[in-house]
Amino acid sequence: MNDRILSGIQPTSSMHIGNYLGAVRHWVSMQDQYDTYYCIVDLHAQTIPRDPEEMRARSLELVATLLAVGIDPQRAALFIQSHVPAHAQLAWLLTCLTPLGWLRRMTQFKDKAGSKADHDALAGLLMYPVLMAADILLYRPRRVPVGEDQKQHLELTREIAQSFNARYKVDFFPLPEPYIIKQTARIMSLRDGTAKMSKSDQSAAACLMLQDSDEDLRRKIRKAKTDSDLLPETPQGLVRRPEARNLLTMVAALRGQTLEHAVAEFAGQPFAPLKDALAQEVISTLAPIRARIEALLAQPAHLKAILADGAMRADAVARETLRQVEDIIGFLPRG
Ligand code: TYM
Repeated sequence: MNDRILSGIQPTSSMHIGNYLGAVRHWVSMQDQYDTYYCIVDLHAQTIPRDPEEMRARSLELVATLLAVGIDPQRAALFIQSHVPAHAQLAWLLTCLTPLGWLRRMTQFKDKAGSKADHDALAGLLMYPVLMAADILLYRPRRVPVGEDQKQHLELTREIAQSFNARYKVDFFPLPEPYIIKQTARIMSLRDGTAKMSKSDQSAAACLMLQDSDEDLRRKIRKAKTDSDLLPETPQGLVRRPEARNLLTMVAALRGQTLEHAVAEFAGQPFAPLKDALAQEVISTLAPIRARIEALLAQPAHLKAILADGAMRADAVARETLRQVEDIIGFLPRG
């Protein structure tokens, strides 16, 4: 048993408040208690074609963002996935243990591949969760802090780990549990309370980005979709009111309150005071973060040094796990 924690985030665009409240905020609190490894998953980002310059810029921006929200590189190893070759190497070995049927039933594959699932979808999209399983299993963590949308990937990781242990009759990989804080596990789009806030949303107004200006944040919140009733008196009154639930959830999370508390505060009121309160909380949380991101981006050499150190620490753990896996599988050592 170890007390390692691993999680990852894609460098596909800057971070939104769903990433922050659903996952990254917990990364920050976990670094005090655990041996933490946080990975910017540039290999995963290749499942969709990217502009090379954009990839480089986004990766560095995400490092700055993670540091700005409080990841401490002295404690957490912050690294780029492609800097630690064992991720891609273990992914291949796990691919050889994973039935195609397990991958075809993944909802994210079905959503992203859509009508191309049978033929034209890129194989990387199908293999995506195997690479994620490799990311996780290399560090043999007990828990993986993620939002709700990654739960199925964690289940698959457990199945792959079990399959490895069973095939080689070993008890090598512990079965990792998702660490999901229910209240903020699924922050929804500002334009549609039934859809997840997502970087790939066509409408920029759907997401509150960590780097948005105060003005943009205020405007997006003001325009956020609502219904026509007053806010409910109790949390039960939020059933079938996804927009009200989402705005109240964000206010509560940013203030460190329970949802019940926020519901009681705005009970019976129209949406406008809730939106004003949310804008105030969002701006007071994000404005200092944005200033730190800008300051950090002005020091690319410092960011690269942090990544080099993070990769070295992650590589030491990952390489040793891979060595043990290769030994279990029966590969000849290099000598
Ligand atoms: P990604 O980059 O889409 O998101 C990073 C983290 O943010 C969470 N998240 C949300 N949480 C609440 N509400 C939302 N609207 C919301 N949107 C995103 C995600 O659940 C995630 O925790 N496949 C992963 C990256 C990955 C990974 C890993 C994660 C690769 N390897 C190993 C954990 C462990 C992904 O695409 O996350």
